[in-house]
Amino acid sequence: MKKLIPAYLRVILVFFAVLGAIEYLIDSEDRPAFIKFPMVSLFLFVFLFLLIAIEITFKAVDTVTYQLLTDEQKSILSETSNVSFTESSWYKDLMKKLTKSMPIENEGQLLLDHDYDGIKELDNNLPPWWVYSFYACIVFAAVYLVRFELMGSDNQEMELKKEMAQAQIDIAEYKKTAPDLMDEKTVILLTDAADLAAGKVIFTTNCVACHRADAGGQIGPNLTDDKWILGGGIKNIFHTLVNGGRDGKGMIAWKGTLKPKEMQEVASYVLSLKGTNPKDPKPSEGEIWIDSTAPKVDASVAEVSDSTSVKK
Ligand code: HEC
Repeated sequence: MKKLIPAYLRVILVFFAVLGAIEYLIDSEDRPAFIKFPMVSLFLFVFLFLLIAIEITFKAVDTVTYQLLTDEQKSILSETSNVSFTESSWYKDLMKKLTKSMPIENEGQLLLDHDYDGIKELDNNLPPWWVYSFYACIVFAAVYLVRFELMGSDNQEMELKKEMAQAQIDIAEYKKTAPDLMDEKTVILLTDAADLAAGKVIFTTNCVACHRADAGGQIGPNLTDDKWILGGGIKNIFHTLVNGGRDGKGMIAWKGTLKPKEMQEVASYVLSLKGTNPKDPKPSEGEIWIDSTAPKVDASVAEVSDSTSVKK
């Protein structure tokens, strides 16, 4: 057996078997256990060290005992250790244990009495590998029965349903924080000076041609008053930016040009302009928009300085 697997392979095999078992047994969520828990790494390191030390010790003992052998014993040893895998005695023992087969020369002992027109029958033992597999199946069936039929554990269908439900929750959670997956349902008003400044840059680059630098309105409507044609508030404005205005009016859909995050910034910037009263504005169009989702504070009437309080 020792000769069959070289020492370095043996070390690697044992080490990875233990590593695998540890990763399987220790619940370390997204990261491997040996990274998450430094103690595990330490243990593995010591374990590897011991494995190598043990191999070296055995090797040394072997060499010493070999030196103590007489020449005759040495030649016997080299003969026996050169036999092939299937001829090795441990392999033969193993096969014998697994099959309990009778050597062919003793078959006569197994012969049953009857003789069907010259056809005879042997009374072989059931091979242990088969018998034990059969017992294992019975144990498995019992456990299965208790777990799934009596205790009502989830079957595959339930497991799938639960995982799908959890995935929906995870996606919603992810969308909240992933800026480029933001849509009009998840978008929130930005109030940080840096975000508004970024929004101003986008506005100056893309929007002033129609809405004027002060957003007082020209081709497009005045964006600083409290009347909106397409609805006010961050969500509606985001919607307008993504999908554009009414057909033929000139406000294009920006979803191909601007990223969701950029639309959020420019929409927040537009909202921050409310009440700035630019000179000669375009007359108000649309209707006063009231934020029905924030009943306590009337967003459409709130001053710019109050806009933080609109946010929950
Ligand atoms: C080609 C001219 C043009 C450009 C460029 C333009 N808009 Fe407009 N915008 C309009 C027009 C016209 C409307 C009115 C649409 C309607 O009545 O349906 C409008 C409507 C709007 C509205 C809705 C106003 C309301 O009362 O509901 C918002 C918000 C808006 N634009 C923001 C922007 C932003 C932000 C940009 C830059 C990213 C931009 N627009 C670029 C022409 C333009």
